[in-house]
Amino acid sequence: MNFKKIGVCLTLASLSMSLAFAQTAPKIKVGLMLPYSGTYASLGNAIENGFQLYVKEQGGKIAGREVEYVKVDDESEPSKATDNINKLIKRDNVDLVVGSVHSGVAMAMAKVAKDTGTLLIVPNAGADAITGPMCAKNIYRTSFTNWQPGYAMGELAAKRGVKKVITVTWKYAAGDESVKGFKEGLEKNGGTVMKELSVPFPNVEFQSLLTEIAAAKPDAVYAFFAGAGAVKFVKDYAAAGLNKSIPLYGPGFLTDGTLEAQGTAAAGMLTTLHYADGLNSKRDNAFRLAYVKAYKMQPDVYAVQGYDAAQLLAIGLNASKGDLSKKGEFEEAILKAKIDSPRGEFTISKSHNPIQDIYLREVVGKENKYKSVASKALADPARGCSL
Ligand code: PHB
Repeated sequence: MNFKKIGVCLTLASLSMSLAFAQTAPKIKVGLMLPYSGTYASLGNAIENGFQLYVKEQGGKIAGREVEYVKVDDESEPSKATDNINKLIKRDNVDLVVGSVHSGVAMAMAKVAKDTGTLLIVPNAGADAITGPMCAKNIYRTSFTNWQPGYAMGELAAKRGVKKVITVTWKYAAGDESVKGFKEGLEKNGGTVMKELSVPFPNVEFQSLLTEIAAAKPDAVYAFFAGAGAVKFVKDYAAAGLNKSIPLYGPGFLTDGTLEAQGTAAAGMLTTLHYADGLNSKRDNAFRLAYVKAYKMQPDVYAVQGYDAAQLLAIGLNASKGDLSKKGEFEEAILKAKIDSPRGEFTISKSHNPIQDIYLREVVGKENKYKSVASKALADPARGCSL
């Protein structure tokens, strides 16, 4: 046999070997633990849509492995979260878990992920602890900490001359931490929180709170609600006539994915978030076009976070050649990456949380219109994380 023939044989052999690998590379099983019912149902659906869109754009495969899904409705119910994630890991044998929206649910998930070493990618829940005291090599987040948009809004409100604020939120980790971040930003810049009001999650009986706000006449109100609860709060605030005299501020969750339902009640509201309408970048425009085509609706911040969860998985899995047990290679690639997100490029901190721009947005018609960068490359302080 001459050299040319040997070369051809070798090429054919390696081709058939890689074909054999492609055929036998096991599917990657992704556990989607998200709310598909209750006040956060639309958020869960948007996250799944975003995740699947990215995977479809890669031909349904990541690092040569076909992606398969197992779904659980976590109902935003922390008391069921440990059982739910354990079922995914132990009964369904998923390779990794993506979830969830609610901070209480996600903290229970993070504990199980840490104990079992299962890869967890958090596509929303902002619980500061997940990338703080509970941080771990195998836990990543593609969204935010509750502190991030809250802090940016606190700074901004104070700089706009707001002095006395009443805060109002659902009483659980996300609301408490969002208010804490806001307060830190506000007080550093000369403002004060005069009263902190709350209702239990997911209650939407706001009348007595609104009466209290009207009587106290603060310069502004800062509110944390999301999903269906945010729709109701913003509408009730306007129906009480408060939007005419007391500006309502909040993290962008108050108006993201909710404007169709809020109608004119949200007009003119200012919020802070790591996504906005009208960013008008090539990347975001392409993402939006593809999302609308696939799902016949506009994407929101939750869809972006889901899309980026799949991107993060792809970065890690490509670097570890499809092998999730190579945790060092997986992490190294992610810490080095600039994630090409529709929100704008961001990086992942040592504690595994996005370092990202927080935008000021204004509600104009059905859009959270981009106004400016409120806080450039804002990193969570990651208090208590020793990674
Ligand atoms: C949370 O529970 O962390 C949470 C839920 C919904 C949001 C934002 C944060 O829109």
